[in-house]
Amino acid sequence: MAHRPKISVVGAGNVGATVAQYVVEKELGDVVLVDIIDGIPQGKALDLSQAGPVHGYDSRLVGSNGYDETADSDIVVITAGLARKPGMTRDDLLFKNAEIVGGVVDQVAARSRGAILILVTNPLDAMVQLAWKRSGFAPERVIGMAGVLDSARFRTFIAQELQVSVENVTAFVLGGHGDSMVPLPRYSTVAGIPITDLLPPDRIQALVTRTANGGAEIVALLKSGSAYYAPGASTVEMIEAILKDKKKILPCAAYLDGQYGVAGLYVGVPVKLGGAGVEQIIEIKLTTTEETAFQKSVAAVRELVEKLKL
Ligand SMILES: NC(=O)c1ccc[n+]([C@@H]2O[C@H](COP(=O)([O-])OP(=O)(O)OC[C@H]3O[C@@H](n4cnc5c(N)ncnc54)[C@H](O)[C@@H]3O)[C@@H](O)[C@H]2O)c1
Repeated sequence: MAHRPKISVVGAGNVGATVAQYVVEKELGDVVLVDIIDGIPQGKALDLSQAGPVHGYDSRLVGSNGYDETADSDIVVITAGLARKPGMTRDDLLFKNAEIVGGVVDQVAARSRGAILILVTNPLDAMVQLAWKRSGFAPERVIGMAGVLDSARFRTFIAQELQVSVENVTAFVLGGHGDSMVPLPRYSTVAGIPITDLLPPDRIQALVTRTANGGAEIVALLKSGSAYYAPGASTVEMIEAILKDKKKILPCAAYLDGQYGVAGLYVGVPVKLGGAGVEQIIEIKLTTTEETAFQKSVAAVRELVEKLKL
């Protein structure tokens, strides 16, 4: 009998519920939603099940406050934690979310030894490093979601600026998730044409700045909570690449073992995502300016990770 993939999503808040929604709408598999709040994962799972007849999906959704239902998951997405409030940096979240994510990883890793973990909780780069250490999983099976979102934001702004379809736009970002993220305009293209040929440097800089502040812009608008539609969609693009073994090149937080001159640290780089998780780190040659920005971003990630004393 064909195996239907099992995707567990821990944290049934805004991002987690959106991941569950997009997963079933794409019929990528069955979903287990887990949260500490009694009734929330159960209620959202039931509600999403009842959208099945309308959307035409047969995915089974289960909600739970425990972990037994997650056993033998193919993929576990971790969104559990606190979201940023206005004026709060991602780093403020570090210690609280480290405690939450550490506990979640212990539970899921014990029940799904072969799973691929996708971390979403912020501060992302530190949480993925923590999850890798705590799970004991091979680094290619512990991956952080940030670059897909950052590049989706950059793509949106480029498409709006040039009045072209978002489908024509690709964008390339490197580095940590957050203010030190490094977009690479010369590798960001519209139908293959680098945006450096299409836009003046000051316009590109404005789009880059808006992208780097993309999360904060939404936090300021929402006032309570942070972005979740695009983060959910970005996570599901990674899930799909893995479950369909697409070998898709996507920017993800991946474990560097000497690539880009960085060893022993999770940082955002382009990777090939397939059935085995991160199947390859794509290395490109950086210009001096890009290298400086990248190393600054790596230093920011390292500083955060060191605070965790893993
Ligand atoms: N990596 C990215 O690009 C990115 C993008 C968006 C959001 N995020 C991060 O994702 C996280 C979730 O964001 P959100 O908007 O969904 O927040 P949210 O508050 O809506 O949801 C978080 C959920 O986690 C649950 N939770 C807390 N502790 C838990 C535990 N120990 N076990 C199980 N569940 C627990 C909460 O009850 C809540 O339902 C935040 O840390 C946010 O900063 C990251």
